[in-house]
Amino acid sequence: MIASVMRSQKELWIEEHKDPRFLVRVHADKPSGPIPGFVDFLKEKQLNPEQTKIFDAGCGKGRNSIYLADNGFKVVGGDFAPKAVIDAKAKVGEQKNLEFREMDLGEPWGFEKEFDAVIDCDTSICLPNPEREQMIQSAHEALKSGGYYLFYGVARTELVNTNPGPEPNSVIFPETGKFEKQYTKEELIEVFARYGFHLINLVEPTGSDVVEGKQTTFPMWVAIFQK
Ligand SMILES: C[S@@+](CC[C@H](N)C(=O)[O-])C[C@H]1O[C@@H](n2cnc3c(N)ncnc32)[C@H](O)[C@@H]1O
Repeated sequence: MIASVMRSQKELWIEEHKDPRFLVRVHADKPSGPIPGFVDFLKEKQLNPEQTKIFDAGCGKGRNSIYLADNGFKVVGGDFAPKAVIDAKAKVGEQKNLEFREMDLGEPWGFEKEFDAVIDCDTSICLPNPEREQMIQSAHEALKSGGYYLFYGVARTELVNTNPGPEPNSVIFPETGKFEKQYTKEELIEVFARYGFHLINLVEPTGSDVVEGKQTTFPMWVAIFQK
């Protein structure tokens, strides 16, 4: 079951990046909602952008990586969809503080204490388990001691009952077959704690986003964890 869910998720994303139809936000140029605030947070923590390395997990076409690099940070963006990486690279050309890589985040990343921060904007919620937890573990390994993990993802909605996915509090969207984990607060804190992160900031604004082509309002978690 998990293998078939995974395969179809990868196929879905590869198709979506080749022929964008549903997931409008992934193709936008503006950064994700919490990114400007996260830049302010890093600066308040006295992190000098030029010496601060950030990994953008599931970078898509690079909007958040580019914003962070334009703010002076050193950035690596990773995504398993080849077209996403090609388009992201084409947007920036040669920029020495920014690099994009094709990689599957559900497999061990192979970075060790290399990054000061990892951003996860609507990405880990797209991975069914066990790949999602592998991603959290890899992020922990990739971070330096004291490093930050920004999590941005949909909180639990009624869709977990009307369109249930293959694991608790998850959804399969009927039009696309797209999987989404929708954490409760307790689940979110518990899973990150299990991999060695502690929560330092959590906000639950009412968000608005484009899902399956429709403007939709629902709560989004914005959490900052620390290693
Ligand atoms: C909802 S989009 C968010 C993209 C980007 N973070 C943003 O906010 O624009 C999720 C991204 O995660 C990527 N993705 C999903 N599962 C992945 C995996 N196992 N490995 C690498 N990338 C993955 C998709 O290709 C897609 O670009």
